[in-house]
Order: sequence, then structure tokens, then C-alpha cells
Amino acid sequence: MCGIYCYVGKKKAIPVLLDGLASLEYRGYDSAGIAYVTDKINIIKEKGRLDNLKKLLDLNTDTYLGIGHTRWATHGKPNKKNAHPHHQGKVTLVHNGIIENYQELKSLLKEYKFKSETDTEVLCCLIDKLLKENNNILKVLSKLNELVKGSYALGIILNDDLNNIYGIKKNSPLILAKSDIGNFLASDIPAILKYTNEYILLDDNNIVKMSKDEVKIYDSKLNVLDKKINTFDGDINKISKGKYEHFLLKEIYEQPDVLYKTYLENQNLPDLKKYNKIHIVGCGSAYHAGLVGKYYIEKYCNIEVNVEIASEYRYKNNFINKNTLVIFISQSGETADTLACVKKVKDKCDTLGIINVIDSSIAREVKNVIYTKAGCEIAVATTKAYSCQILVLMMMALKKDITNLISKINNLLKNDYEEIAKKIYKSEHLFYIGRDIDYYLALEGSLKLKEISYIHSEAYAAGELKHGTISLIEKNTIVIAIATDKDLVEKTISNIKEVKARGAYVIYITTNSLDQESDFYDEKIVIEEDIYQPLLTIIPIQLIAYHVAKLRKCDIDKPKNLAKSVTVE
Ligand code: AGP
Repeated sequence: MCGIYCYVGKKKAIPVLLDGLASLEYRGYDSAGIAYVTDKINIIKEKGRLDNLKKLLDLNTDTYLGIGHTRWATHGKPNKKNAHPHHQGKVTLVHNGIIENYQELKSLLKEYKFKSETDTEVLCCLIDKLLKENNNILKVLSKLNELVKGSYALGIILNDDLNNIYGIKKNSPLILAKSDIGNFLASDIPAILKYTNEYILLDDNNIVKMSKDEVKIYDSKLNVLDKKINTFDGDINKISKGKYEHFLLKEIYEQPDVLYKTYLENQNLPDLKKYNKIHIVGCGSAYHAGLVGKYYIEKYCNIEVNVEIASEYRYKNNFINKNTLVIFISQSGETADTLACVKKVKDKCDTLGIINVIDSSIAREVKNVIYTKAGCEIAVATTKAYSCQILVLMMMALKKDITNLISKINNLLKNDYEEIAKKIYKSEHLFYIGRDIDYYLALEGSLKLKEISYIHSEAYAAGELKHGTISLIEKNTIVIAIATDKDLVEKTISNIKEVKARGAYVIYITTNSLDQESDFYDEKIVIEEDIYQPLLTIIPIQLIAYHVAKLRKCDIDKPKNLAKSVTVE
């Protein structure tokens, strides 16, 4: 949800920090800030994008140590006052996570004058207060877990210790990297790849002390740890837009390649038939992918599947037993609600992760993990990772070759559906409808459109519309109707005629075998048929959302209010 980037070494720190924060901006971009050390600690922060902060900084400043932050606001408005780094007493820090008991802690810190509305500043005051009682930062940090509820990844510098950066994490990602130009703490792996492809994954309650010459990692008892060094095996050069105007468009067009890579590298998938019940848990598009998985696993494996939104699942009686499998879907592998569900059930039943980011928190908590090979997904709105998630779920149910599918997707990508987007982009309300599997695709289509174009849209089970919501259909209301299932197409067409009769402007998506000339639609998109149908249906849905957002001049890769990795609850 926020990005943390800390550096100490041989190079001037401000350009290094800004570069690192730029690679983390997808995690949140409400505000940004840097604290850097000269003969004292200097704090510069600003509301809005990183570019606003850059204008306030001199890249040539004689400083070689600093901590930086890019924020997605949780407590307190996205403004300069609430931007990180926060400073109190001797302590300056940046934080990713949520301090759940910050109000309770604040009541113990009455001697402090708070300058912000954030939970982070409370943590700053707490650490400063503890340092007054015991001027040993390592000992103070080793006690944090007992006092603080919630999640934190911290980068800390102290007024009277200007050569070191301290770090600690709990339930929020933090990696450590050592390179020949210096040492780093960062929220994720891509942020350090410019300098090294080796990194250390910190575990909960690990404490770091790092200077330009030395790095030490401690456990919560202050024993020195010797942690495994991991090597990133991806291609950092792929993280660029290349010939595309937006990462989102590039990632839509990457789908054939990454689907085929995911298929080739996941030939030995778990046998689902040993379970008598399957739960699939995720958030947002990951949840939508789970619904598609439900359709295929129930149809081809004959196993009951419940699909749950993680933020709901975590508070329910889940009725699981040793014959249950819980599948967790997450692109980032850091979504706090999903991670909380893993921790809740992992000792009660088998758990399987379908994850895109290697060594992410969820990937490390589940019993088994299947990695989607979508590569780094930069656009906040997911496309290629969602498709790879669906493919993995369908492969577990179908075990069918996808070579034909890939060529069909490539054919479909020759269209851009911009003409249809021109019919939509001025709308303020829009419906997606479908039955069964097509309803699940309608849900994803509606989310894509909302999150990147800000048009209010709603996905509705086609058969349900007439039970109330059809009252909202009026002349020229846009309805995108999806019908790809031969057993349900006639029923869906009846529902389309109901909205058409009330003046809707219907965009009809169907397959070549179900296509028929008629007057119940205004626009028609015909796609080829395939056993992996959803991976074809989703292509026009994604491209329409993209072109609508582009026509509305939206910030397609970094939509307002969103973040790529939702590591808070
Ligand atoms: C999808 O476009 C959104 N960015 C969002 O719904 C996302 O799918 C959700 O936050 C889950 O993220 P995860 O896959 O990283 O867990």
C-alpha cells in the first residue's frame, strides 16, 4: 500500500532514493517524502506524485544516507502534513502498514505534540519514548511486537546515530539488499534490481542495522542471523513500456506470451480430486478469477467450490476440515486480507497459492504454491496476471493443450474495439450482464472499467436484472451483454431483449457458433469458441475498458485512490 526505500552507501543518496521510489510509486502515490543525512537529518515531503517532491530536492546534495516513502493514505488525508517521513524527538521514520492500536498507544504519549493524523507518527513517538527509557534502538525495536498490534515495515534514522539505518517488519513486506554501491531496504524486489539481483527476504520481527560498510540482521532476541541470499531470475529490462503508451496496454498484449509460459512451466499441477471441498479466496480481480475457477472445477472435477472475498472469509466460520483445500489467489502475494486468511486456516487444511510475485508473503505462508508467469505487472489494474490465474485454475480442471487458444487470442488482439469505446466513454452509468461463467466475466469487466475510467458500472446476473435493477434502464443506457455458453444463450438473449425494450444501447459479445443476425443488439463482438473461453472473452472487455479510459484522459496505469498492492486491511 505504501512504498519504502532506504539507502546508505557511496553514491549521492537523493537520486538513488528518487529512482527507487519511482519504481515503488505503483504501491501508492498520494504523497512522497525523503529524509536525508548531512550533518543533521533533513526532511522534505510533498503532496501528490513523486514529481512534486523532485522539484523540491537538489540531486547533487552532499548526502549518502536517506529513507524515502511513497504513500497510499490510510489514516489522515493525502496531504503534506500526513506524508512520510515522520519525525518526533530523536526518531525519523517511514512506515508501510497499519497500527491497529494507535489510538490506545496515543493515549500513553500525551507528552508529545502530534503534527499529523497518522498512525505512523504515533509509532514514531512510541519509539522515541522507549529510547528515552533505554537508549538502545535494537532493544527498543525488539520490544515493538509486544506493544504494537497491526502491520509495519519501517525504515528508521536517529538524530544521534547518523551513519546507520534501522529496519524492522511485521506483516508487511521488507527486503534487504547489499550491492557494491551501498545497502538498501525496500518494499519489494524490483526496486533494487538496478543495483543488484541479490536480496534477502526479511521475516517478521527481524531487525536490521545497516551502514555503508556493514549490515547486520537480528532476531527478536537480538541474536545475529545469517539469512539466505536469494537471486532474482527475471528480466528487469521487461519493466518498461516499450512501444506502448501505457503499461496496461502492453500487459494486455503480453497475455499470449505469458499464458503460454504459465502453461509450459506448470505441467505438474496438484490433483484436486483428493479433496471433497475447495474454497477459493481472493480480492478484486483475484476473486473474479476464483469464480471462473469454480465454474471449471465444478464442471470438470465435480467438486463443490466456494469462492470467497478474503475480507469476508477471514471473519466467518469456514467449515473446513482435512479434506478441504483452500486456494489463495493473489498477483502481489501481499494483499493483507488474503494473507490474514492464509494464517487463519493454514494449520487446519491444505493450502495452495496461485501467486505472481515470487517469494511474496502469501507464497511463503501457503503449503504449496503455483507461480503464474505473468512477469512484473506494473499497471495497477490487473490484466495478464488475472488471465494467468484463470488459466492455472482451468488447467487443474481441464488438462487441455492451449496452442489453439494462443493463436485465437493473437487474432482477437488484432482488434482494438476503439469504435465501441467511443460509444461508451461519455456515459456515467453502464451495465455488464451475463449468466453463470459470463456473469463472472461481467464482474471483471465492470471492475476494469470502473477502476481505470471512473465510469460507474455494475455487473448483474442477466436473469436477476428484472427483479428490480431493470428500473434503472432507460433510453441509451449502455448494456454490455455477454453470452458464450450454448446452454444459456437463449435465456440471456431474452434478458437482452428486456433491456432493449426499455431503450438500452446493447453491446453484445458472443461466439462465432452462437452468433445470429438480429435486432436485439446495437453493436456485436464475435469471438472464436474455445474450451478456455474466458481467456478469449476477457480480451475485448479489457481493450474496451482501456480505450474508454484513454478517451476520458484518465491516468490509466495509476488510477486515483488505488494502489497495486493492498497491504492494509
Ligand atoms: C484489479 O485490477 C485490482 N488492482 C485489484 O482488485 C486487485 O485484483 C486486488 O487488490 C487483489 O490484488 P492481489 O491479486 O495482488 O492480491
